Amino acid sequence: MGWYLNSYLNIIFLTSFCFSTLVISNGQQYFNEEKNYEGSSDLVNLEYHMGPVLTSTINLYTIWYGHWNPTHQAIIRDFLLSLSSSNSPFPSVSDWWRTARLYTDQTGANITGNIVLSGEFYDWSYSHGTSLTRLSIQSIIRTAVTANNNNARARALPLNSNNGLYLILTSYNVQVQDFCRAVCGFHYFTFPSVVGATVPYAWVGYSGSQCPGLCAFPFAMPKYSGSTPGTANANLMEAPNGDVGADGMISVIAHELAEVSSNPLVNAWYAGDDPTAPTEIADLCVGFYGSGGGGGFPGKVYKDSWGKGYNVNGIKGRRFLVQWIWNPVLRRCFGPNAMD
Ligand SMILES: *[C@@H]1O[C@H](CO)[C@@H](O)[C@H](O)[C@H]1NC(C)=O
Repeated sequence: MGWYLNSYLNIIFLTSFCFSTLVISNGQQYFNEEKNYEGSSDLVNLEYHMGPVLTSTINLYTIWYGHWNPTHQAIIRDFLLSLSSSNSPFPSVSDWWRTARLYTDQTGANITGNIVLSGEFYDWSYSHGTSLTRLSIQSIIRTAVTANNNNARARALPLNSNNGLYLILTSYNVQVQDFCRAVCGFHYFTFPSVVGATVPYAWVGYSGSQCPGLCAFPFAMPKYSGSTPGTANANLMEAPNGDVGADGMISVIAHELAEVSSNPLVNAWYAGDDPTAPTEIADLCVGFYGSGGGGGFPGKVYKDSWGKGYNVNGIKGRRFLVQWIWNPVLRRCFGPNAMD
C-alpha cells in the first residue's frame, strides 16, 4: 500500500503493516539501485499466498468525506468511469488496468475488467470529525451504509459483501493518521464488528493543500528535495486536469485500486516474507510513470500543447497520469505507454 518516492528526493518510504512509513534520510545522495525494480526482476519475490482476488465485477462505492469541490469530484469520477470504458483512445485507463487483470487466484480466475461506479455517498457533515484514525475510516463506511434515506444526496450505500469495494476520499481539511507523514492512501478490509461485514476498502486523501510534494509528485516539488521551491525542475509537470491535488489523487487511487484488487484480504499477491508488511503490486512501481522512470525521474510520458503531463487517456477527452504497476508476465513495472 505504500508510497515510494526515491532517494533522489532524500525520501525513503519503508513499507510496514499495509501502509508505508516515511523516513527522511538527509545524507543519501544517490539513487538506491535496490529499489529500482524496472527490469531487475531478480530482486522481486512477488508471490501468491492463496487468498482471493477481486474476480467478479467490482461494485465501487465512493464516499466523499467532507467539503468537496465539484470540479475535483468530476475529475476523479471520470477517472473511475474510465477504468472499464472502451471509449478512450490507446493508451487508455482501461489499457492500464489490463496489467492488474493479469493476476489470478488459485482457480485461475483473473482480476475483473469490470468496475462499475455503483453508488456515491456525501458525508459533508464530517460525521467522524476532521481528525481521523485508520480505524475511524471503517466507522465512516458504517455511517454510509446505515444512513437514513430521507436525503437524496446522502442515501445509504448498500453493504455489499459480495462484490462491493468502498473508496473513501477525504477532503482538503481532513487529517488522517499518518497522512502526509507516511502515507497518501491505504487499503484494508472492514471488521464485521465495526461495519457489519468484511468488505475491502481503500482510503485516499486530498493532498493539494496538505502535502502536494509528497502525494502529488510529479506535479509538485517535494519539500525535502533540496531544490528551492519555485525554481525550475525538469521532472516537474503541469497537472493534466489543472488541479495538483485531484490529479495527484488519481495516481494514488489507481495504486490502491490495483493493490486492493490483487490483495483484498492481505493474503493474496505481495512480495516479502512478512504478511504484516507486504510489498504489493503498485508499491513496487511508485514513481514510475513511463519508460526509464525511477530515482525521481517520472519516465517518458506525454505532454499536451500546454505542457501538461499524462500517460493515459480517459473518457470525455480527459487525460490522466497514473503510476505503473508490476506486470507478473514481463516481471517488471509496466504501463500501456511503455516504449518497449
Ligand atoms: C489472465 O491471467 C493470465 C496469467 O497472467 C494471463 O495470461 C491472461 O492473459 C489473463 N487474462 C486476461 C483476460 O487478462
